[in-house]
Amino acid sequence: MSFNIAIDGPAGAGKSTIAKQLAKSLGVIYVDTGAMYRAMAYYFITNGIAPQDIEKIAEACGQVDITLTYENGVQNVWLNGENVSDKIRTEEVGKMASATSVYPVVRNKLVELQQQLAKKADVIMDGRDIGTVVLPDADVKIYMTASPAIRAKRRYDELTAKGMECDLEEIEKDIIERDYRDMNRENSPLKKADDAVELDTSDLDIDGVVKAMKEIIERVK
Ligand code: DC
Repeated sequence: MSFNIAIDGPAGAGKSTIAKQLAKSLGVIYVDTGAMYRAMAYYFITNGIAPQDIEKIAEACGQVDITLTYENGVQNVWLNGENVSDKIRTEEVGKMASATSVYPVVRNKLVELQQQLAKKADVIMDGRDIGTVVLPDADVKIYMTASPAIRAKRRYDELTAKGMECDLEEIEKDIIERDYRDMNRENSPLKKADDAVELDTSDLDIDGVVKAMKEIIERVK
């Protein structure tokens, strides 16, 4: 049986930064499920499919092949044979992923892939519904949060470091909207699993969060 850690939480709480570091130090695979929803969203955008066009979205789901590969622990996302790992990291794609991840036709396809990955290998998987739906029997479940203002500032720093122009207020507004949609959708909404440990990262730096996570993992292992 594989050993699985589930991390859920809203956008910008620090899930992926921390999961990547932990995966390295624990020698397990980091599975970024948001990247899968983003790859689907990227397909919809590049094919001119509107987020409310459920018929076209359902049809597209039958034509889309998403694969994850790992090179020295780094995840690459492939969409119909094309490496889209960098192309999916924009706010536009993030918004579209949030809007289209409400559909069961999209979720079912990706959840199956995620469950297969977790069965085959020891993983740290992050997303919105990992502890509740994808891996309800995960060995460790963590629900990571931070205040919207702090999350907006982190996203702002991340984007400006990549040379992208952005507006802090706009990012905070988008984050609040995205949280609302992710938490209030009918299918697999973002919520803390009953047996998850909650970790607020607002006042912690990266090392502080990694340390807190390691303590949680040790405690519940
Ligand atoms: O974590 P992220 O920002 O890359 O995720 C993009 C969107 O994908 C997020 O707003 C909601 C959706 N998502 C989801 O519904 N379920 C997941 N397990 C992961 C992401």
